Amino acid sequence: MDQIRVTGGKALRGEVKISGSKNATLPIMAAALLAEKPVTLTNTPLLQDVRTMAAVLQILGVKVTLKDRSVLIDAKDFSAAEIPYDVVRKMRASVYVLGPMLARLGQARVSLPGGCAIGPRPIDLHIKGLRALGADIQLEHGYIEASARKGLRGAEMWLEGPNGSSVGATCNVMMAAVMAKGTTVIHAAAREPEVCDTAEFLKSLGARIEGAGSSTITIEGVDRLDGGKYRVVADRIEAGTYLVAGAMTGGDVKVSDCRPDHLETVIEKLAEVGADLSVDGTTIRVRGGNLSHPIAIRTLPYPGFPTDMQAQFTSMLAVVPGTSTVTDTIYPDRFIHVAELNRMGADIHAHAGVATIKGVKLLSAAPVMASDLRASAALVLAGLIAKGTTTVLRVYHIDRGYESIEKKLSALGAQIERISKGQ
Ligand code: EPZ
Repeated sequence: MDQIRVTGGKALRGEVKISGSKNATLPIMAAALLAEKPVTLTNTPLLQDVRTMAAVLQILGVKVTLKDRSVLIDAKDFSAAEIPYDVVRKMRASVYVLGPMLARLGQARVSLPGGCAIGPRPIDLHIKGLRALGADIQLEHGYIEASARKGLRGAEMWLEGPNGSSVGATCNVMMAAVMAKGTTVIHAAAREPEVCDTAEFLKSLGARIEGAGSSTITIEGVDRLDGGKYRVVADRIEAGTYLVAGAMTGGDVKVSDCRPDHLETVIEKLAEVGADLSVDGTTIRVRGGNLSHPIAIRTLPYPGFPTDMQAQFTSMLAVVPGTSTVTDTIYPDRFIHVAELNRMGADIHAHAGVATIKGVKLLSAAPVMASDLRASAALVLAGLIAKGTTTVLRVYHIDRGYESIEKKLSALGAQIERISKGQ
């Protein structure tokens, strides 16, 4: 298995271009199942999760061609109706095909996703929403058995869970409702940019959707969707990760090709710690230098502070003087990186969804183990400022969501390399 070795101490300088959003590409690829004509997606990131979603669509009989940063999907012959456990256990987002399968085939058998390193991740809201559209859904032998032989029909529903709205449920139900008979109104809808991008893609194919980006989405069903070409939005979490990297190394980094309007809370929190930030069009410039103010962060559904940036901020705050707190209200168990950061000399105590971080002067390099995507990124960031050489194991987690992280960081001056299997 590959490893990443990073030697700390270099202030990052230069420009990094942000790739297309992983978490928008995945539902959009699933949504392409609804189109009877070919769809071309551009600005898709070169990531393992995108390849996994391509494999999911191929299982369903769909033609998928991955070519550099574009994906061609032709769902004309989409006919198979089952996604086995072996696929879903590799990537939970496989469950995004449930809504489109019900809409086009009137039936679906999809494995229930299992446990996850970041904590419990139920899909009850997906099921609630699809049932409201008239689907008959049974959970049997670890599978979701769904059917809607007479077709789906529009309905009004509230998709609010104990931790707020759900990105996955909102996208899944929106995709199913696009071809349902009549009007669907989703209340307590997730407002994340990835939901908006999925809606924009569907609209570009002829869907009638209003209100994406607000907490009420209204969908008028149409008979069929066309093909077309669509450019995926920039990845706000990748952009945020490089902003943190620039700030915590005391560097001067321009994060380009991104959407600053999707990063307002991240920018605000970096400024509160003491980083100097400026926005110019699609570029954000960050200068570190004086990160001296401890802060309190609370993750919330968008437009609140993203849970997917929590681990990276925890790394940075590990060396900010004073006591900071990070509360994850979305995934209270998402703190596995804390134990690894403490092995690097951090002083962090995580309990009941809250990490209390007492800033230390210096981190020291250590071999560390990545547990999930954002935790892995946090460990690489810690390695950038630690004394000595940090080895991050289980790098496959990072490859799911960061395109060539070692190349992008190295181009900014980091001393970082990937050690491939066998070397
Ligand atoms: C998406 O997951 C992202 N994944 C996650 O990113 C991200 O952390 C998460 O949204 C929150 O922003 C993709 O887009 C592929 P949710 P999703 O449904 O859709 C609860 C990363 O690192 N909930 O918005 O699965 C749930 O437990 C990944 O890139 C229910 O209770 O998240 C959580 O507390 C990790 N019932 C909250 O809602 C449900 O049916 C938000 O989850 C569904 C969710």
